[in-house]
Amino acid sequence: DWTPASFVEETVQILKDQVGNDKVVMGLSGGVDSSVAATLLHKAIGKNLYCIFVDNGLLRKNEFENVLEDYKELGLNIKGVNSSKRFYEKLEGVSDPEEKRKIIGNMFIEVFDDEAHQIEDVTWLGQGTIYPDVIESKSVKGPSATIKSHHNVGGLPDFMKLKVVEPLNTLFKDEVRRVGREMGLPENLLGRHPFPGPGLAIRILGDITEEKVKILQEVDHYFIQGLKDEGLYDDVWQAGAILLPVQSVGVMGDERTYENAVALRAVESIDGMTADWVHLPYEFLARISNKIINNVKGINRVVYDISSKPPATIEWE
Ligand code: XMP
Repeated sequence: DWTPASFVEETVQILKDQVGNDKVVMGLSGGVDSSVAATLLHKAIGKNLYCIFVDNGLLRKNEFENVLEDYKELGLNIKGVNSSKRFYEKLEGVSDPEEKRKIIGNMFIEVFDDEAHQIEDVTWLGQGTIYPDVIESKSVKGPSATIKSHHNVGGLPDFMKLKVVEPLNTLFKDEVRRVGREMGLPENLLGRHPFPGPGLAIRILGDITEEKVKILQEVDHYFIQGLKDEGLYDDVWQAGAILLPVQSVGVMGDERTYENAVALRAVESIDGMTADWVHLPYEFLARISNKIINNVKGINRVVYDISSKPPATIEWE
């Protein structure tokens, strides 16, 4: 019978046999899958697992620092790499969603490869691939494969001739969480909403600037913190804010304003393939809207996205 405990025990043994005394390099994202996969590998091979966490400048507010701290507490051998500038430079002036994804994916590989090359004699690449990712990357007709180029799976540059180790590739998401819980990962890590690899770049419609990222991080923070404070976070599958390239007229005190609008999005879903917008309480939305408009400079209007998938997607890009 499958239990998280037996899975951990068996997988750790398999990893020990498979990897032996070799070194494994792995990119962590702060997400559930890569965190659980890394913890399993860490149990099996300890310090021979070299984890790399890249700050692409497109993460949530304080996410890089917070997640790095969590990983250190777990005892992982982790290196945080701040590459924000490199990502911003490459993204300058780019508005096309797929172009953004490509640039970010390629830049991640570049940064990761630079880092991996600094580890002597590394022969394996660890990945947090779970079973649905395996299916999705194989399906020609999967909507995400054709409409949007996800870059979590594959994307390995051939000059990095590493063998791939994927301890979670037979598991579904809920099983991954149970395995993580079994190994004592903190709940805030296990319960984290999914977050796209390209990060806030695909939630800023139009071109990306550091200033826009800062604004969106603030908005997103008020929204997500509000969900947590009011006990709503765990009822929502994924939530976030989108910075719209639209300015509208407002009034602040006696002054006319002409500033940007943001959209808030919260969805219920099982696997991200279909999704319904969440009927968040009006009072909650009212409080968050006020907080955002009163505190985030550059925003004078908040709207709530009431579209389901399909036909809308979860992300706006
Ligand atoms: P969509 O927008 O396709 O999103 O309905 C479905 C789920 O996938 C996430 N997503 C991505 N994740 N790289 C990722 O790692 C991507 O390029 C990407 N695009 C969308 C999205 O956040 C949602 O959870």
